Amino acid sequence: MTKSYDVKDLKLAEQGRKRMDWAEQEMPVLRLIKERFARERPLAGVKLSACLHVTSETGNLVRTLAAGGADVVLCASNPLSTQDDVAAALVAYEEIPVYAIKGESNEVYYQHIKAALDHGPRITMDDGADLVSGILQERKDLIPRMLGSTEETTTGVIRLKAMAAEGVLPFPVIAVNDSDTKHMFDNRYGTGQSTLDGLIRATNILLAGKTFVVAGYGWCSRGIAERARGLGANVIVTEIDPVKALEATMDGFRVMPMEQAAPMADFVVTATGNKHVLDSNTFAVLKDGAVIANSGHFNVEINIPALEAASVEKRQPRAFVDQYLLKDGRTINLLGEGRLINLASAEGHPSAVMDMSFANQALASEYLLKNQGKLSVGVHALPKDLDKEIAALKLRAMGVQIDVLTPEQEAYLNSWQEGT
Ligand code: ADE
Repeated sequence: MTKSYDVKDLKLAEQGRKRMDWAEQEMPVLRLIKERFARERPLAGVKLSACLHVTSETGNLVRTLAAGGADVVLCASNPLSTQDDVAAALVAYEEIPVYAIKGESNEVYYQHIKAALDHGPRITMDDGADLVSGILQERKDLIPRMLGSTEETTTGVIRLKAMAAEGVLPFPVIAVNDSDTKHMFDNRYGTGQSTLDGLIRATNILLAGKTFVVAGYGWCSRGIAERARGLGANVIVTEIDPVKALEATMDGFRVMPMEQAAPMADFVVTATGNKHVLDSNTFAVLKDGAVIANSGHFNVEINIPALEAASVEKRQPRAFVDQYLLKDGRTINLLGEGRLINLASAEGHPSAVMDMSFANQALASEYLLKNQGKLSVGVHALPKDLDKEIAALKLRAMGVQIDVLTPEQEAYLNSWQEGT
């Protein structure tokens, strides 16, 4: 028998509720959806298990799903990303079963995933595809009743596409990450700001004048590179994709292989989605005192066992900083155990971008339900009109007005006869 929730301390609930209410002020699009959901109850009675970073923004998403009538449970999508006060508030004030404790072991993390699956969901909502992976590996019995799943992040979408390519994905999935109103804003501006926030909270080291290496130049890593440059750092980008490398070069960054960049680096941040981007060969050439951190979904980008093997001692000078003393006397500072630093030592992306990401999530769950039986097995994007509607609502909430096409312009765009 699984307990009906597992959070750190229910006494934190009041603080968690205040933080959720504070975040909600910056989430006008989600608020509108919540109001409509409360009127229309589109998810009435649907069992929904969500595996997301348990933050004040996620708290607001869960409140929205519950307002729509969903029977929701929530577990963490990373052992270090939970905000314990929010988890407590959702249990105490919203009666939502939450399974998430900041700093939980890997074993407890997977017990919590199991508990979320024991709910018997018809819709799963993932950030990293752990629920879908759990269904495939241990709970195939859930498949016949499943309407589908929604996926928040690039890494999760990659895993789901790998399942589809192998022919094992059993139901439709909505790749929320593929909406423009998700990846262009959350991944870039959200990861950009929150990663720098995480680095600064963990170390309090000045960035101006420092050499800052960013591994990758996808939506997340370009946000990090931009914001590091904005704080006065000298930014170097490493890439494996020629187009992205070219883009980084023309955006004004120096681009070179990691082995050349690492000896110059005061900071190295990974956000590639790949494993062992920093490995023994990097640790061998890093400067004494270099700070390394990861902002990608999984804690595999930095080869931590290899770092442990190269070290003679490990100290903790500050929270979220592990200082490794290497055999040759150099030290390397690893932040947040190599887990996504923006959620480990800071609070994740600001609410204003999560507003759009979670508007997509809420609409994706409604879309799965409305289209049950009609969607093919596979990974789908949300229809463009929903994406545009979210952008339009966000602009309206921000007080930004835009032009509209004249009938003449509209006709012109749909014709081909006119030229120079
Ligand atoms: N992923 C990144 N930032 C987040 C946040 N604030 N809430 C939920 N998921 C996130």
